[in-house]
Amino acid sequence: MQCAMLKAALLSAVALFAAAFAHPQQNGDSLTTGLSLLNGQNLVSAQKIFVLGFFSNGNSTYLGVWYNEMQPRTIVWVANRQNPITGGNGSLTLTSSSLELLDRTGNPVWSNAFQTQNSPQAFLLDSGNLIVNDTVSGNLLWQAFDHPSDTLLPGIRIGYDTSTNDNSFVTSWKNGSDPSLGEYSLRLDPKRLPDVLLFHGSVPKYRMGTWNGQGFSGLPALRATNLLAFNMTVDEDSAYYSYTALDTSILWRFVVSPDGLAHRWCSNQSNLWTEYWHLPQDQCDVYVYCGANAACYNGDCKCLSEFTPKSPCDWSQRNFAGGCVRDAVLPCSSGNGFAFLSKVKVPDTLNAIMVHGKGWDDCKNLCLRQCSCSAYTVFQESDCVVWFGDLVDIVQLSEGINDLYTRVSHSNPSHSGRNIAIIVSVSVVVVVLVISALLSFCYRRSQQKHLPLAEGEEVF
Ligand SMILES: *[C@@H]1O[C@H](CO)[C@@H](O)[C@H](O)[C@H]1NC(C)=O
Ligand SMILES: *[C@@H]1O[C@H](CO)[C@@H](O)[C@H](O)[C@H]1NC(C)=O
Ligand SMILES: *[C@@H]1O[C@H](CO)[C@@H](O)[C@H](O)[C@H]1NC(C)=O
Ligand SMILES: *[C@@H]1O[C@H](CO)[C@@H](O)[C@H](O)[C@H]1NC(C)=O
Repeated sequence: MQCAMLKAALLSAVALFAAAFAHPQQNGDSLTTGLSLLNGQNLVSAQKIFVLGFFSNGNSTYLGVWYNEMQPRTIVWVANRQNPITGGNGSLTLTSSSLELLDRTGNPVWSNAFQTQNSPQAFLLDSGNLIVNDTVSGNLLWQAFDHPSDTLLPGIRIGYDTSTNDNSFVTSWKNGSDPSLGEYSLRLDPKRLPDVLLFHGSVPKYRMGTWNGQGFSGLPALRATNLLAFNMTVDEDSAYYSYTALDTSILWRFVVSPDGLAHRWCSNQSNLWTEYWHLPQDQCDVYVYCGANAACYNGDCKCLSEFTPKSPCDWSQRNFAGGCVRDAVLPCSSGNGFAFLSKVKVPDTLNAIMVHGKGWDDCKNLCLRQCSCSAYTVFQESDCVVWFGDLVDIVQLSEGINDLYTRVSHSNPSHSGRNIAIIVSVSVVVVVLVISALLSFCYRRSQQKHLPLAEGEEVF
């Protein structure tokens, strides 16, 4: 009797043991050549931060990466956004020359080919990256970070290299549950100087502002953080943006959501997401809110010096889209000068060039020598940027580091010009103070009488 029980116990232990090894790749962080990850099985990164597995939206099944601990599930990468598996039972298979996602009939819905002499191996890393490397040389053969979805994790880069035709960007989901391509994307545009733009389809919606060597000209506050480092790598043909988390106990994700906002989320041990910030934030963030040749400040628009509203009527009704035009044709001469705008998000750079090795004076002269040059600035003391024609999407910031000089008909030395402005505004303040002191004096007098002013009585 006892013996039979022991035998049964032993048998079930063996069965359990066998079951544990029936799916050897389950819960590991890697997939070896010839093996498959089946629908329902997961890879978990070494420190159990990220999970690779299958998830479904109705009839559609996707392969994705999400956080192991966060609830509700936060998906950061999707392999087959545009080609869902239908009918269930998909699998991810690593062959000697490709990583393939198959549907239940064995047809690939998504695949990536690579070449290697030795057998490859796939790993889900604690950064959230899925990589394939060579088991002998360790060479990287493929990585998911080169194909981001809607989320920039620390270490993922977006940008372009025109010499290799690479252009990598993030695109929102269609809606909260459908990971297929939505309408909004965050990208760098090779037709502009390095900048990160949020697009609605092919139309810009928001610009972080041209990269000035240390930060984005429209987001000066981004520089001052000990939590994150921002990294723009610019070369002759390429520009890439990424960020690094300096405190690795905090999780970060930067997501373009279906509502057309770019949200930066963070989380510490609490397993909850807190919004760090989102963009765009206000009226002035709206791309070209003020139309051409105007600057936005605090939700209001002002024409640049020597420009007036194209349609004064629209402008007075706060419809700024028409922008501003020059008061008079600018005579192109060496006698031209510049008006000064401080602390700006510099204009969009579709019509601008950067010339290296030119300081403020050289840059000014470069602009003066060309009739169509409309503005200039200098980044990092020697990177001269000159604009041609209309200037769009200028924002005056309350804190900022970039100045802009816009072309006007006559030379007016900017410093004395600023002093006069200061003197004028100081006198205005004094007059306002005197008037309000007088008014409050009179008001108190009338209050003391506790009687309405008699008809005909003069206040002053
Ligand atoms: C999925 O696979 C399971 C187990 O292999 C099988 O029982 C089931 O019929 C399959 N479902 C479909 C829709 O093929
Ligand atoms: C492949 O990448 C994994 C994960 O980074 C690493 O542990 C492994 O050592 C690499 N393979 C080789 C041969 O270097
Ligand atoms: C910045 O990004 C480049 C690639 O775009 C990378 O090679 C470099 O290591 C990054 N630097 C930092 C500090 O993250
Ligand atoms: C985690 O976040 C919460 C809320 O944002 C904050 O109050 C708390 O101090 C943070 N803890 C750590 C360790 O950063």
